[in-house]
Amino acid sequence: MKGIEDYIITIPDFPEEGVMFRDVTSVLQDEDGFRLAVDLMQKKLEGLEFDVIAGAESRGFFFAAPLAYNLHKPFVPVRKKGKLPRETVSIRYELEYDVAELEIHRDAIKPGQKVVLIDDLIATGGTNEAMIKLVESLGGEVIKAVFLMELAGLHGRERLKGYDVDAVITYPGK
Ligand code: PRP
Ligand code: MG
Repeated sequence: MKGIEDYIITIPDFPEEGVMFRDVTSVLQDEDGFRLAVDLMQKKLEGLEFDVIAGAESRGFFFAAPLAYNLHKPFVPVRKKGKLPRETVSIRYELEYDVAELEIHRDAIKPGQKVVLIDDLIATGGTNEAMIKLVESLGGEVIKAVFLMELAGLHGRERLKGYDVDAVITYPGK
């Protein structure tokens, strides 16, 4: 039987030299790979009581939506700036060479709700740190963040210190 690592194609030197790009689309485009990824992420939530799943645009949606569907929970999309039509709260955060902005609908999370964050990848942890700030600004409590992949060499876990961070597959490098 194939493991999840067998479905992830690594592209060396993309998008720039020295980067080993772990391509999530190679998992999605295989019917067994996609199911295995969702199943393994779901295992990380076994026995956990929570109210809401929030996922980060774009690649986080691939996994957050099927997990919310399977577990019969609401799915809250955290979107890039300017896409959400109703009242939002937003946060600017730094990327390696740029600044980005994420938004969430103000009514998407109620104070006291327990929230699970889902994304395909944790690298520097910047995206998910921003997600945590958004959820907490609405009074939600982030009780776990689950990723398909982790690039341990970028130390995202340390950035999210104090939070329960879990990944299906951890690569030692960047
Ligand atoms: C990628 C990936 C994670 C984030 C991880 O998203 O999907 O969300 O980077 O990096 P970090 O831990 O350093 O923040 P990206 O911003 O490239 O956008 P996308 O999901 O729309 O492709
Ligand atoms: Mg992303």
